[in-house]
Amino acid sequence: MNIVKTISEIQKKIKKYKSEGKTVGFVPTMGFFHEGHLSLMDIAKEKCDIVVVSLFVNPTQFAPGEDLDIYPRNFERDEKLAISAGVDILFYPDLDEIYPKGYLTYIYTEQLSSILCGKFRKEHFQGVTTIVAKLFNIVQPNIAVFGQKDYQQAIIIKRMVRDLNFPIKIILGPIIRERDGIAMSSRNKYLSKEERDQAKIINIALKKAKEEFDSGIIEANIIKENIRKKIQTSDLARIEYIEIVNSVNLDSIKSVKSGTFAAVAVYYGKTRLIDNIDF
Ligand code: PAF
Repeated sequence: MNIVKTISEIQKKIKKYKSEGKTVGFVPTMGFFHEGHLSLMDIAKEKCDIVVVSLFVNPTQFAPGEDLDIYPRNFERDEKLAISAGVDILFYPDLDEIYPKGYLTYIYTEQLSSILCGKFRKEHFQGVTTIVAKLFNIVQPNIAVFGQKDYQQAIIIKRMVRDLNFPIKIILGPIIRERDGIAMSSRNKYLSKEERDQAKIINIALKKAKEEFDSGIIEANIIKENIRKKIQTSDLARIEYIEIVNSVNLDSIKSVKSGTFAAVAVYYGKTRLIDNIDF
């Protein structure tokens, strides 16, 4: 596996692969790999000749006071995991390679970026679309793979790709869960033992919502209320939002049907967890 630090070097390598007729699959990450990341790398490997993974903790998607400084990092561990996943290039740029002095340009996908998580994390999605657009321009992959846990992020990126004509196919990988159902996330590391234990309720509440829908309940308000009640049985949970939305424009819906999904954000202490389930 090649570890590449500069844009000029990765572009040279990609150009060579493409001149040999090879396809490039890309997985953008902020590192601290878990099985969720590795499953996205597997998908890229299955679909393309070459797998490129970027590892960059992107400061523009964190608001002041969020967890940028303490975001978990362990390059040596990530390097080993990427090798074992069969990654060809690990792109690991420094901050000023990506945002040199005088950087001024941002990408913003309107509407979709200011609802759900965007209502509470005001500049978050602008940071995400900006870094992803830059990485797409740098890597020029044929496909890019994102996790379905960050459902809103995935939908925004799909819209950005469509609106800005990136010739890249976006593929979503399913949520990978711990044995007790909690969605894998680098941020799970912040949870105390008790918080971690109680956070299982999020997935239990979402699975129950799906069962309710399968048994014929379609009123979004009833299903949302039942999710709320279930999560509130965990006394450490502080619910930020529970929404049921369609998966094209994230509009809130009244009647649940297939193609819609329930999304939640819940704090345990200072740790903000998100999760979702498709109906
Ligand atoms: O999902 C993430 O880890 C990040 O938001 C991403 C897509 C790598 C952009 O920094």
